[in-house]
Amino acid sequence: MRKKIVAGNWKMNKNLNDGIQLIKEIIDLTNSEVIEDVEIIIAPPFIHLNKAVELLKNNKSIGVSAQNCNQFESGAYTGEISAQMLSSIGVKYVILGHSERRAYFNETNETLALKVAIALKNNLIPIYCCGETLKQRESGMHFNIIDEQINDGLFNLTESDFRKVIIAYEPVWAIGTGVNAKPEEAQEMHSHIRELIIKGYGKSVGDDTSILYGGSCNHSNAAVLFANHDVDGGLIGGASLKSRDFVEIIKARMNK
Ligand code: PGA
Repeated sequence: MRKKIVAGNWKMNKNLNDGIQLIKEIIDLTNSEVIEDVEIIIAPPFIHLNKAVELLKNNKSIGVSAQNCNQFESGAYTGEISAQMLSSIGVKYVILGHSERRAYFNETNETLALKVAIALKNNLIPIYCCGETLKQRESGMHFNIIDEQINDGLFNLTESDFRKVIIAYEPVWAIGTGVNAKPEEAQEMHSHIRELIIKGYGKSVGDDTSILYGGSCNHSNAAVLFANHDVDGGLIGGASLKSRDFVEIIKARMNK
């Protein structure tokens, strides 16, 4: 079922105490301001996940996500975290293929296909990111890049597995730059992605897939971005680190 979703990607920010404080503030604000009909997700760094799950164990509206997982089941991969470990502590989602991981940690679509598969096997919902660089957009390659990322990363899934995946379109040039995609640019790409899914899996799967926008989305531009038919919510970086800003974005999604 297509859902309204707002997810906060904390990246490598917040020590434990600040993270706990942020989660408590989000819980308080979302309780007092009656948030309905929006799935809220927070993705703190690995080391805070256990605590986040504990703080949110009685909260039905806010789920916990990791920002990555390893592509293998277990074994001699020093410093890595497996999907099974995440699942075993109550994590429900995992962000995969974020452009920072693609760029700084050499994650390819092929590796990401393995990560998606192992996440699903361990009952984690993948939030699969795709997005083009400015150079790729300027050279007119943006649709091809997104097609390739989605084809290679996701299109080997069965229909029932594909239905579990959330997609996030995050143009690299908009991430952390303060320059968000124009609402019509976001809509154009989101509808392109939906068409691609419809071609691969049929209309009902395409219509049911939640496609989030990410890249300098904040409380001032969220409403106009979310007003687009194919934009189902947001993956929020910087603005998810302040409870008030994050909750305003959630409210912008709710009011559509
Ligand atoms: P930003 O990051 O909101 O800070 O631009 C979005 C993301 O990287 O998910």
